[in-house]
Amino acid sequence: MIEKINQLKAEIETLCAANAQEVEALRIKYLSKKGAISELMADFRSVPAEQKRELGQKLNELKNLATDKLNSLREGIETADTATADIDLSRTAAPMPLGTRHPLSIVKNEIISIFSRLGFTIAEGPEVEDDWHVFSSLNFAEDHPARDMQDTFFIQRNPDVLLRTHTSSVQSRVMEKTQPPIRIICPGRVYRNEAVSARAHCFFHQVEALYVDKNVSYADLRQTLLYFAREMFGPETKIRLRPSYFPFTEPSAEMDISCNLCGGKGCSFCKHTGWVEILGCGMVDPNVLEACGIDSKIYSGFALGMGVERITNLKYQVNDLRLFSENDVRFLEEFKAAH
Ligand code: DAH
Repeated sequence: MIEKINQLKAEIETLCAANAQEVEALRIKYLSKKGAISELMADFRSVPAEQKRELGQKLNELKNLATDKLNSLREGIETADTATADIDLSRTAAPMPLGTRHPLSIVKNEIISIFSRLGFTIAEGPEVEDDWHVFSSLNFAEDHPARDMQDTFFIQRNPDVLLRTHTSSVQSRVMEKTQPPIRIICPGRVYRNEAVSARAHCFFHQVEALYVDKNVSYADLRQTLLYFAREMFGPETKIRLRPSYFPFTEPSAEMDISCNLCGGKGCSFCKHTGWVEILGCGMVDPNVLEACGIDSKIYSGFALGMGVERITNLKYQVNDLRLFSENDVRFLEEFKAAH
């Protein structure tokens, strides 16, 4: 009997099974009522009393070995089964949620696209600027209030270094390096020393346009503005130019468009005037051309500058400037359909 036990033990230790049916067959072979181990148990009854202790122990060990072995075979097959059942390689991947473009980028890109259809190309300049490019070259008088500490962020140790307050600084940078014809738009971030509120922010975005060539006239400016307004706000849009003042343009104007909410009839948004202001513009002052090394007797030009936030507010009725820099995803997701 001891031989039989050892033989079965060796057999059981090397058992293997490929699936649940094979494990069940092994269980029947060894552990069922008519299985090999049960048969041994039956034989055990006729074993002489003095061998009972030793053989009984061995038999129990064999039974435990068989039970453990079958359990571990069963477990191995179950994990293999679930591992393959859970992976369906033909399934399409779960969709990754797409981000949205920032509303200011959407509007900036649209402005760029409209002007590029007129032959304007992008020019960029630094945000940390010097007095010459932001003010002096643009005909700002020495005591102009815009230079005041209250408007401009200066670097304390060197008042010649400052954060640009407008993108007009890119005009002078380009004119210094390039002779006409010049036809550029300059998108970028600008900084002003303002308390942050719904209507003002210490940084915002502008797009500047500059066209310098022979015989550029006010009529060219006006037609460019009309084209821009209609492309941006729809073909029914009307424009109105009001005389204004900027140091770097002469004459200067501010442009209003017919209110795109009420179509010009008058509403609370346009304060019942039917018009909303959208940008500043004018003919480049000869002093500016000369300061940048361009002969003002041969060349003339126009320039315009607009706030991207302002245009975005008009297009999408965003009434609080702070929303643009808070990055609240719920706000940003509202622009999913816009690009
Ligand atoms: N730089 C002006 C501002 O920041 C905007 C502006 C007005 C730009 C008239 C121009 C212009 O080029 O001709 O308010």
